[in-house]
Amino acid sequence: HIQAVIFDLDGVITDTAEYHYLAWKKLADELNIPFNRNFNEALKGVSRMDSLKKIISRAQPAPSFSEDELNRLADRKNEYYKEYIQQITPDDLLPGITDLMKEIKQKGIKIGLASASKNAMVVLEKLGITSFFDGIVDAATIEHGKPDPEIFLAAARQLHAESASCVGIEDAEAGIQAIKAAGMFAVGIGTADKMKEAGLRVEGTQKLSFIKIESAYLLKNK
Ligand code: G6P
Ligand code: MG
Repeated sequence: HIQAVIFDLDGVITDTAEYHYLAWKKLADELNIPFNRNFNEALKGVSRMDSLKKIISRAQPAPSFSEDELNRLADRKNEYYKEYIQQITPDDLLPGITDLMKEIKQKGIKIGLASASKNAMVVLEKLGITSFFDGIVDAATIEHGKPDPEIFLAAARQLHAESASCVGIEDAEAGIQAIKAAGMFAVGIGTADKMKEAGLRVEGTQKLSFIKIESAYLLKNK
């Protein structure tokens, strides 16, 4: 049976994926680097610095920045992002998420967070759901970002759960790869073309339910 459900944050629990996009868009515009929603898909689940490097490498010709300059640009994006997340309230929980978490808790199953965001704690506090979590991985302690399984494995360890008995929920391709590399069951939220690798895919969070997740998980493990 399922021992733990490990959630991604941005784009799964709340729509901060949109704020990350808007903040990067603002920075890219200032740098005159082309940037759009389609390219932004490749940044989901990717760390702040790696995202910045991916954006810069798209410029023609790609400008070269010193490490100091890169840090300052990443800080600038984060300032924009922090402004956006100020406005978050519990109303910004994506549909179905609170009910799903309550159901998981009632079953005695652990809830974990595996977010690459260093702003995750602030966002959880603003949403008012910090107390739902039995374990939250600190992104600052993770060496290898998604698609590496490290962050999901760290979450399972915190929850004292075996990988094979964990379910991960993600909206990013890199996230689904990380869940699968950790030996867990992957639930993907998004379109079929992006979520090909997921063990269970739903179009949006409102379509999530514990019974759906458990049935898919049990079928997979038969
Ligand atoms: C999540 C988001 C990414 C973001 C990363 C780092 O994985 O999906 O878009 O770049 O966190 O977030 P941070 O808040 O630390 O810049
Ligand atoms: Mg995400």
